[in-house]
Amino acid sequence: MSDTTDAPKKLYIKTYGCQMNVYDSERMAEALGSKGYTETQSPDDADMILLNTCHIREKAAEKVYSELGRYKDLKAEKPDLKIGVAGCVAQAEGQEIMRRQPMVDLVVGPQSYHRLPAMEDAVREGQKALDTDFPEDDKFDTLRKRAKTKRGPTAFLTVQEGCDKFCAFCVVPYTRGAEVSRPADRIIREAQELVESGVREITLLGQNVNAYHGHDGGLAGLIWALDKVDGLERIRFTTSHPNDMDDALIDAHGTCDKLMPYLHLPVQAGSDKILKAMNRKHTAEQYIRLIEKIRAARPDLLLSGDFIVGFPGETDADFEDTMSLIRDVHYGQAYSFKYSTRPGTPAAEKPQLPDDVMNDRLQKLQGLLREQQVVTQDSMVGREVSVLFEKPGREAGQMIGKSEYLHAVFAHAPADVIGQVRRVRITSASSNSLGGDLI
Ligand code: SAH
Ligand code: SF4
Ligand code: F3S
Repeated sequence: MSDTTDAPKKLYIKTYGCQMNVYDSERMAEALGSKGYTETQSPDDADMILLNTCHIREKAAEKVYSELGRYKDLKAEKPDLKIGVAGCVAQAEGQEIMRRQPMVDLVVGPQSYHRLPAMEDAVREGQKALDTDFPEDDKFDTLRKRAKTKRGPTAFLTVQEGCDKFCAFCVVPYTRGAEVSRPADRIIREAQELVESGVREITLLGQNVNAYHGHDGGLAGLIWALDKVDGLERIRFTTSHPNDMDDALIDAHGTCDKLMPYLHLPVQAGSDKILKAMNRKHTAEQYIRLIEKIRAARPDLLLSGDFIVGFPGETDADFEDTMSLIRDVHYGQAYSFKYSTRPGTPAAEKPQLPDDVMNDRLQKLQGLLREQQVVTQDSMVGREVSVLFEKPGREAGQMIGKSEYLHAVFAHAPADVIGQVRRVRITSASSNSLGGDLI
């Protein structure tokens, strides 16, 4: 069937999990565009509902089943409605989803969604479609060029997928497969297409983005190549592993004007015993030395991190080591999680800590991280920052954007600042955002 004979249809995509899923959802919507689909914000209007799912913690994975439950009545009313599950839960539990939820028509993993148009044909004919392969063909070769529609000023661009690190708690190496880097010329072309659609800031994505090796000089080499793209004003990248922070990348933080002074560099824990059990392959001391080196290259860098409390075997003393690492490093912002047992990962075999111990530790850790975040936010008052304005704020005449340090910044400004980088003097701070005046 040719693209043009496909009747217009509506697609509702709900995205869970990390930024890579946000990027994949855009690409899946574009792929289904060839079958006549346009996106809708309401599941009630949809001809197809696609849940792009996350498997990282138990709670994230459970959401899929409760969300599917909500569509039962809708599916009974509209027998032509097709329901699909994509993403990391699809990869990990594809067969199981089909068995537990007969209303699911389609299951597609993160490496095979370029096959969605053919799968859509199958489900329209009343078949079930399941594809959780790690195909030899590169999905990015099959996917269409980025749609030429007008975009907002910021975009994600996946440059690297998968992970070979096998941290003992983590499902990503199983759901996303081995580490693969996209060729640099394709990435640069995609960045140019995004800029032509109005994008000014690109965040390079990878489960282990700084392990990127598709360009000489690794991720730093790619960043320098993107630095030459006219019209691209800002570059960010996430998420990084401490062991892949090479000197060239650290140096780029000091010398590349387009590379923003923000770094998400998870350490997970501050006890060497726990880091070893997690298979992180570095010590707390090595991490702290690394941060010193990065800050020497870019003193004003805002640092973010991820922490897990209650990993199997974590004692009070181990937890205190994490607290003390946080005090040493000082994070501008961070994410923290209770350890969640993931089937198939090595840590799942180990005896688990009681929930109340984990809750207590999480509360203490989050209290400390919150204090540091407030100190960081407050320290911005009186300073000047550069803000890329993205959209109107909630109050009339107010526009919202991001500082170079990724703070959300509000300012009274005309609507034409959207898409522009403007200097702003910060006049007020709350725990999650800053307020200021255009200079
Ligand atoms: N690739 C990134 C992060 C991937 S997952 C990295 O290496 O840093 C994002 C975060 O989820 C992790 O950094 C970790 O803090 C958390 N996470 C992963 N698996 C988890 C689990 N089983 N339980 C709790 N948190 C987990
Ligand atoms: Fe998971 Fe570790 Fe890989 Fe990050 S580096 S994706 S935490 S296995
Ligand atoms: Fe979740 Fe998969 Fe991302 S498990 S965090 S959606 S890589």
